[in-house]
Amino acid sequence: MSAVLPTAAFLYERVRRVIPPIEWPSFVDDIDAILALKRERNAIILAHNYQTPEIYHCVADIVGDSLALARKAVTVEAQVIVVAGVHFMAETAKLLNPNKTVLIPDLGAGCSLADSITAQDVRLMRQSYPGVPIVTYVNTSAAVKAESDICCTSGNAKAVVESLGAPRVIMLPDEYLAKNVAAETKVGIIAWKGRCEVHERFTPADIRELRAAYPGVIVLAHPECPPDVVTEADFSGSTAAMSDYVEREKPPRVVLMTECSMSDNVAVAHPEVEFVRPCNLCPHMKRITLANIRVALEENRHEVRIDPGIAGRARRSVERMLSI
Ligand code: 13P
Ligand code: SF4
Repeated sequence: MSAVLPTAAFLYERVRRVIPPIEWPSFVDDIDAILALKRERNAIILAHNYQTPEIYHCVADIVGDSLALARKAVTVEAQVIVVAGVHFMAETAKLLNPNKTVLIPDLGAGCSLADSITAQDVRLMRQSYPGVPIVTYVNTSAAVKAESDICCTSGNAKAVVESLGAPRVIMLPDEYLAKNVAAETKVGIIAWKGRCEVHERFTPADIRELRAAYPGVIVLAHPECPPDVVTEADFSGSTAAMSDYVEREKPPRVVLMTECSMSDNVAVAHPEVEFVRPCNLCPHMKRITLANIRVALEENRHEVRIDPGIAGRARRSVERMLSI
């Protein structure tokens, strides 16, 4: 263990409500090392809202939902960006920072949505629906983004769809996000059959049981949940929108129908709110740890590279989204 404990000891104050004291010593050495490595390497860490609290609150420089991470990636001045998130997030950061070193600590941090569709699938959709614009969720590979007209995230999907001025659009690859957006817009939506393996497991029965067991609980659901779950919830929005809801409304009791770490991360700032915590783990997000962030910075791995023939077209789809 490192003898340099003071910084990490100070950080524990932030997370003591969500990390038990017995677990904390196992994080201290890596936290101190990562903070020093960031200074040495002129590096910053972008962390998604689903990262564990010791990453999110103790070593990350920029946190947020996919949209916030993409927006803030454009403003980064550091030369090295470590993405504590999944591979498509690291690719998005690289697309927006082609001259910087972008690292992902574990190449296996994928996404069931990104795996559900290929560039060839998108080309076939374009052939099947000539002239219909293709909106692609950022949870996709750069190759898929390159075949698309514009990207969206859960935070801006409806705005992106409506910005195109088309009577109908193709929305790939999340079937449930597409159906949830379709319920809120007059634009016709043609969906794909991708699913988030985390959110597809929530059911309306889960919500009814929670309401019975925890009277008054406010239910917030991510729009990757099935439409009948979103309908039963009190509010639906991106991870940032859920966090903003708690900040704004301060519900006495709340449940977030989403990935497990989200409640921990939001709970840190809201001791007055009771978080009911049935949740589903994202095995991909959980591949990122303090230990592999440290190794990423020590050994410069794994560097994200995107085929230049793909990168330009993929960047255009992301930048078009960011301009909305
Ligand atoms: P957000 O953009 O809402 O953070 O969602 C990303 C994601 O992967 C949700 O499963
Ligand atoms: Fe992909 Fe779902 Fe994990 Fe988000 S939670 S990274 S959509 S598998």
